[in-house]
Amino acid sequence: GKEGKRYVIGVSQCSEDIWRDKLNEELKTATFPEDEVSLQFASADDNDTLQIRQIEQFIKEGVDLLVISPNQAHAITPVVNKAMRKGIPVILFDRRTDGAYTAFIGANNVEIGRQMGDFVARQTGHRGSVVEIMGLKGSSPAADRHRGFMQSIAKYPGIKLVSLQGDWTKASGKRAILDLKRRQGADFCATIDYVFAQNDRMAMGALEAGVLGKRTKLCGVDALPGPEGGMRLVADSVLSASYIYPTRGDLVLKLALNILKHRPYSKENLLQSALVTPDKAPLMRMQADEMNMQQQRIQDLHKKLDLFFVRYHHQKVYLLFTVII
Ligand code: FRU
Repeated sequence: GKEGKRYVIGVSQCSEDIWRDKLNEELKTATFPEDEVSLQFASADDNDTLQIRQIEQFIKEGVDLLVISPNQAHAITPVVNKAMRKGIPVILFDRRTDGAYTAFIGANNVEIGRQMGDFVARQTGHRGSVVEIMGLKGSSPAADRHRGFMQSIAKYPGIKLVSLQGDWTKASGKRAILDLKRRQGADFCATIDYVFAQNDRMAMGALEAGVLGKRTKLCGVDALPGPEGGMRLVADSVLSASYIYPTRGDLVLKLALNILKHRPYSKENLLQSALVTPDKAPLMRMQADEMNMQQQRIQDLHKKLDLFFVRYHHQKVYLLFTVII
């Protein structure tokens, strides 16, 4: 329960998927040693209006700090500004708004786009037909990854690039490629050399469309561990590369506590990350799985401890009761 806790942190997630789940679990685990913190989660299902309503609710409840991943930058800016005006510190993570905030934590998405562009350019021998599937329009990682990717690709006149609009979902990756087929024809799709999808889910959607050629290679971003994640897809060479998009819930919580306890903190907190290719994927996958197992162990232990304290409390009450009668 949250009784007696000194700090309530509202976490406003724009979406629900395995990347967000991983982050939420890491945030929860990070609170175990911190008795004075309680987390409240809201998930907006990729919907600006819903996210605005959820943040309004957090403001009304008087949370002590907000952790927000804004769905679309413009739309979420006013409500974040409002929270800031009311004196609630706001941490933006992974995605940005274009207004006020206390601190940002996340990866450098321009750099991710640039490195994926360099990778694709190298792999194609600096020529060929490349298709980019972008994430949700107006979400900052989509704009940043596109900008970085373009910076790299623009150096090579031999690469013909077509950029398509997606929305981060797998279905949007499939839709984008099927639209392309309708516009440019089946032959065009079959001769694409590389598809760079701005996340692994859209890459899998593009593959599922069933119109890409045998020679078409795919790469994405996220490289999540686990059976559904992109790390496995790279290890199995379904994707020829991905890029770890770090979650680091532990660091998000640490930043939150520094702000709440008036300790020094940086406004901009960039998370390190890395390109994942099939040669490196098996080792990286082993390490990621090990990390997951450790986190699971900590969560199991925590559950046990909670149960222990519940029983201990019952016994104490029972003893007191016997003494009284
Ligand atoms: C998860 C996600 C990731 C992507 C990120 C961008 O919700 O869609 O797949 O890398 O958000 O903000």
